[in-house]
Amino acid sequence: MKFELSEEHLAVKAAARDFAQNVLKPGVIERDNEQRFPAEEIKQLGELGFMGMMVDPKYGGSGMDTLSYVLAMEEISKVDASTSVCMSVNNSLVCWGLEKFGTEEQKQKYLVPLAKGEKIGAFCLSEPEAGSDATSQRTTAIDKGDYYLMNGTKNWITNGSSASIYLVIAQTDVEAGHKGINAFIIERGMDGFIVGAKEDKMGIRGSDTHTLLFNDVKVPKENRIGEDGFGFTFAMKVLSGGRIGIASQALGIAAGAFELSTAYAKERKAFGKTIGQHQAIAFKLADMATDIEAARLLVYRAALDKDNGRNYDQSSAMAKLYASKVAMEHTVEAVQIHGGYGFVKEYHVERLMRDAKITQIYEGTSEVQKIVISRNILKD
Ligand code: CAA
Ligand code: FAD
Repeated sequence: MKFELSEEHLAVKAAARDFAQNVLKPGVIERDNEQRFPAEEIKQLGELGFMGMMVDPKYGGSGMDTLSYVLAMEEISKVDASTSVCMSVNNSLVCWGLEKFGTEEQKQKYLVPLAKGEKIGAFCLSEPEAGSDATSQRTTAIDKGDYYLMNGTKNWITNGSSASIYLVIAQTDVEAGHKGINAFIIERGMDGFIVGAKEDKMGIRGSDTHTLLFNDVKVPKENRIGEDGFGFTFAMKVLSGGRIGIASQALGIAAGAFELSTAYAKERKAFGKTIGQHQAIAFKLADMATDIEAARLLVYRAALDKDNGRNYDQSSAMAKLYASKVAMEHTVEAVQIHGGYGFVKEYHVERLMRDAKITQIYEGTSEVQKIVISRNILKD
């Protein structure tokens, strides 16, 4: 077992860090205040090959492994979790789902521009009445012979207004329950497809989260992904990998807060010494460092399971459950270490604290991760 990153992995990490610190950091507070999507920054990430990192170069991607992807996600998330969620959805949900299960025609038409970062993708599973209980899909896509007729509402969709390609999960046979669900590729501009209200959020405010409405949208037959009835399995398989992305986002948020807190503890003085020389603060840093390293090992483990062809349903759920807990707990501590300065925007840690919360909710809440983990433990 090696605990060292290869030169290639270190280079990816360094490139992502450079981009985060020099391109993302200068405008991150303003984008958060204004709830402004990082359009120009995402374009640049695409040009650097970060929007289709794991996609085969023959489809416009960078042909890297999952470990490279989590290293990049960690560095980007240290600074800007609104940018990293867009990157995560595009890479590990949309591109991966299309490359793994799409037809050659679908890959040429949709995957190539997504992997090159020319277009942005969205993944649409959640509905007003189907969040954790994802098999309770109310959106329908009825087979009309030449096409499917889609009707319904999706909510909470990341990249909702910035995307142009949407993977939408819908019920095609209500009687068949989860076996009557399919996944479809919907293009922006299709008649009857409406991007609805934007959410005003506590965190990841630069990310655009929208309700989507489907009113008699005619979906071409060739836009269905996989065999008839494959949609729920598709969603679950895609989410297993997606959870590695969100786990690395949580890891990055925690690690970003730790870096800022360490620097601050070395510089801020109280009672004639730096606050880091007070054991109460030094021990907070020790706890942060230990928990973040444990989270990092779980995230790398899940990435390596995926890269080495092992089942990663359980390791990705564990990585997300633990890294998101560490992110939430230690961003609160980071604000405490900064005292009053931690409570204002200029010092970044209050944003990291607000951003941390969503990692315990999306791509399966912490309770859902425990369902996945415990079912794996208890199965034969
Ligand atoms: N791979 C393949 N198949 C799977 C699977 C997996 N990982 N997990 C479940 N399945 C299959 C099961 O085998 C079962 O099929 P069979 O009946 O043929 O055996 C079927 O799916 C239904 O599974 P369950 O009976 O386990 O379903 P459930 O109703 O008990 O729900 C759940 C299980 C894990 C709670 C699931 O509903 C779930 O993951 N919910 C959370 C949804 C979620 O994560 N949403 C995220 C939306 S995307 C997002 O959030 C993006 C973003 O923010 C950026
Ligand atoms: P509910 O399912 O109603 O859960 C409410 C509470 O009950 C939670 O604490 C939950 O853990 C708990 N609970 C529910 N069932 C159980 C159970 N069986 N056992 C124990 N506890 C349970 N979805 C997408 O499809 N695509 C996206 O791009 C996307 N982006 C998002 C971005 C943001 C900012 C947000 C807030 C959400 C996003 N989501 C997205 C939706 C997200 O995945 C859901 O919010 C999440 O899965 C939880 O669903 P819910 O909100 O309906 O909560």
